[in-house]
Amino acid sequence: MKDLSPRPGDLDPIETASRDELNAVQVERLKWSLNHAYDNVPFYKEAFDKAGVHPDGLKTMEDLAKFPFTVKQDLRDNYPFNMFAVPREKLRRVHASSGTTGQPTVVGYTQGDLDNWGEVVGRSLRAAGLRPGDMLHNAYGYGLFTGGLGIHLGADALGLSTVPVSGGMTERQVRLIRDFQPKGITVTPSYALSILDEYAREGLDPRQSSLDVGIFGAEPWTNAMRQEIEQAFDMHAVDIYGLSEVMGPGVSMECVETKDGLHIWEDHFYPEIIDPETGQPVAEGERGELVFTSLTKEAFPIIRYRTRDLTRLLPGTARTMRRMEKVTGRSDDMIILRGVNVFPTQIEEQLITVAGLAPHFQIELSRPGRLDELHVMVECSQTFTAPELREKAAAELRARIKRTVGVTVVVHVADPGGIERSQGKAVRIIDNRPKS
Ligand code: DLL
Repeated sequence: MKDLSPRPGDLDPIETASRDELNAVQVERLKWSLNHAYDNVPFYKEAFDKAGVHPDGLKTMEDLAKFPFTVKQDLRDNYPFNMFAVPREKLRRVHASSGTTGQPTVVGYTQGDLDNWGEVVGRSLRAAGLRPGDMLHNAYGYGLFTGGLGIHLGADALGLSTVPVSGGMTERQVRLIRDFQPKGITVTPSYALSILDEYAREGLDPRQSSLDVGIFGAEPWTNAMRQEIEQAFDMHAVDIYGLSEVMGPGVSMECVETKDGLHIWEDHFYPEIIDPETGQPVAEGERGELVFTSLTKEAFPIIRYRTRDLTRLLPGTARTMRRMEKVTGRSDDMIILRGVNVFPTQIEEQLITVAGLAPHFQIELSRPGRLDELHVMVECSQTFTAPELREKAAAELRARIKRTVGVTVVVHVADPGGIERSQGKAVRIIDNRPKS
């Protein structure tokens, strides 16, 4: 793999500023953001008044903990535009969640917001090792989803040449990578695996591709998967995180030179970790639910938004900004199986180490009697299709999950290609339990 580390002068001054300098910027911006939300969004005025807090009461970053949380339901209740802090004519863009699990949520951006978004995504792409003039194959979906257009904005800001291919049409993805020779690819890790399958189907060696770095996010993925992808493509694999409510991709980013978790662009997004049960801040470095407050957003300021993503905060390394550990999962995706907490990423971690299994999987939950059952649906690789090999692989995965996660599961090994492929975010859990 190529050395893609930054050279002196590559970074923005704020990325390597002192903690004190960063803190001064944060306090000033937070005061502005709280006032902006209070003065222009009736929802925030009401929530702050009810909690007995006022933006003028904030003196240090720690005072933020006195302000009330915002949750997804608040956004749904204010559908479509009631959380916006600027007149409709000031909006330059709206994005929305797919709304597959209920009322969609809508977010908006002014020109200033788009400029800031471009800046943080540009910074993220640079942290991945890309430089002005490099070509980027952008396979995140374009549309209401923030992935495609958000990455595109940052690529423009950094000065890349972007191939806006979006998700899907996997044969064409491989063809364009071969013909255009991009240096980077932005894609969900699960769709990257589908692209990898296509290389195999066409008898091509992905290690011979022009790609030096893959920038993966929008869904949880493990370090085991990183190794798998890095090995398969002979390229770096780095993690990008974000969510529409806070901005989109580019809220935090892993640096290619360290690959030790994601630096949060704290000059724009202020993180906290809380205990999801009590809502109280956890001790430094402990795991919990990630909460974000925007510091610069004009159209859609967001105060103490509960992301439901579980992680912990760590001090900065390659940059001044603090890091978040790779997200292990969302509290929504946590399965409680006979008293044990199970995340799909734990299954992924084990699955990748078993010879003969391909890294595609789904989890099916059922309740045939009184107890829940967890079925892991996987598929065998091309050379492991014989029944005895499949049974051996299934037994090994079952034993590994029992040993490391502590639960008994049923493993089904399908034919190669037997597990549904994603073109964006993978659907990991199918819940067939009766609704109570
Ligand atoms: O997924 C934004 C994005 C696009 C991020 C492209 C990175 C790359 P949403 O559709 O609003 O926005 O989904 C946000 O996806 O709360 C996490 O649960 C999950 N997620 C996003 N990035 C990661 C990641 C985009 N790197 C939700 N690791 C978030 C784990 C992630 N989960």
